Formats: sequence, C-alpha cells, structure tokens
Amino acid sequence: MAKQGLQVAIDGPASAGKSTVAKLVAKRFGYIYVDTGAMYRAVTYWAMQHSVDLTDEAAVAELMQTLTISFKPGEPDQLVFANDQEITMAIRQPDVTNNVSTIAALPKVREILTDQQRQIAAAGGTVMDGRDIGTTVLPQAEVKVFLVASAAERAKRRYAENIKKGIDTPLAQLQAEIELRDHKDSTRKVSPLTQAADAVLVDTTPMSIDQVVDTIAEIIKKQSSTI
Ligand code: DC
Repeated sequence: MAKQGLQVAIDGPASAGKSTVAKLVAKRFGYIYVDTGAMYRAVTYWAMQHSVDLTDEAAVAELMQTLTISFKPGEPDQLVFANDQEITMAIRQPDVTNNVSTIAALPKVREILTDQQRQIAAAGGTVMDGRDIGTTVLPQAEVKVFLVASAAERAKRRYAENIKKGIDTPLAQLQAEIELRDHKDSTRKVSPLTQAADAVLVDTTPMSIDQVVDTIAEIIKKQSSTI
C-alpha cells in the first residue's frame, strides 16, 4: 500500500503532554493517533484482572494471546478496548499507573506490542506517542519529536487532569510517582526512554498546548516539503 502521509513519532517522559498534543496534531493533519502507553496500560490491566504475576514474562506473554487492543474515536479521550470491553478509564486508575512500568520492562511484551505498533503505522499518516517510537518502533519515521517538561510542571498538569476525572491524588505524591516512573522508564534494559539522535527536542514547560501543537505542525510541514 502506498504511504499516505508521514510517520510522526512523539516520545518523552510521563505527563509531558504527549497524548494531548499528539491527538491534536493528528487531527490537524487528518492522521491516525496511536497512544502506545495505552497499549502497555491495557496489558497491565488485563494481567491484573487475570491475577497473573506481572513479573512473569512468559505468563504475561501467553495471556496476551487472549487480548486484542483496539482504539475508537472519542471525546475528550480516544476510547480504548480490551477485546470488546471498554477500558478507557480503567487503565488510567492509579493501580494500573503504578504497575505499568513493571509490564513495560518485559522484553517479550515489548516485542509483541512493537510488532502491533509497526503494523498500525505501516500505511503512514500516523502520529504515535510513547517512549521508544523514534528509537525502536519507527526508527525510520520522517518526523521525530522528543517532548520534555520539568517534573514539577508535569505533576501540576497531571493533577489538573486527574481532578477533572475525579481522581484526587496529592500533588507531591504525583510528582514523586512521576520521578519514579521517569527513573524506571529511562533505566530499564530494553528500549529505555532516550531521545533519538535525529529527534527535535521541545521543552514544553513554559508553553501552552497550542504552542506545542503549532511547533510540531511546523516541523511536519517542513519535513513534508523536503520529501
Ligand atoms: O504514556 P503513559 O504514561 O500512558 O505510559 C504508560 C507506561 O508505559 C509508562 O510507564 C512507560 C510505558 N511505555 C513504554 O515503555 N513504551 C511506550 N512506547 C509507551 C509507554
């Protein structure tokens, strides 16, 4: 199939605004948005529901054969499904959030999800956000952005988001959890969070969502005009 549009990889640490921004960028260009963090969360949720030991790589990989993750358009959040069960809200709950790094560190899980992610992006016209998209999943992506923001700013944003969803975790606790997740994501052995050599670094700490979206849109336009 001929590629329709570019592959856009947006990576960065937890709560740097990747999903909000990636979704808006996808909308602007008529691209498909793929939230790969939601896929790791879906596996975590599924394993917890089935009482599988989250450190047992073989057991989790086997259980994944019973799971088909899919997305459907929705507002404000894209809807996430585990088979035919909607899990959009369930995968954002603190129990999943605090266990997802364990699942994301399992090589076999990463292999299976990476494969699925490559299949989704194969046709192009995709904005994919995650931790390892530019480095591992789509190293040939035409556009790579690495989004960062200070841990304090990210905790503030996550707090505001949580309040809207009725989740009331103290700000200091959120910041500590974000720092812990940063540490786990960037020190794990397989596909750690790292900026691809050819990714554009965007520090969103002082920026509004619109400014970040405009910045990425400019990068995409510039890149489209050169290929
Ligand atoms: O972006 P998020 O918070 O929804 O991601 C959830 C977890 O999944 C996070 O701890 C890192 C992990 N993850 C990953 O390892 N690789 C990806 N491509 C996306 C997320």
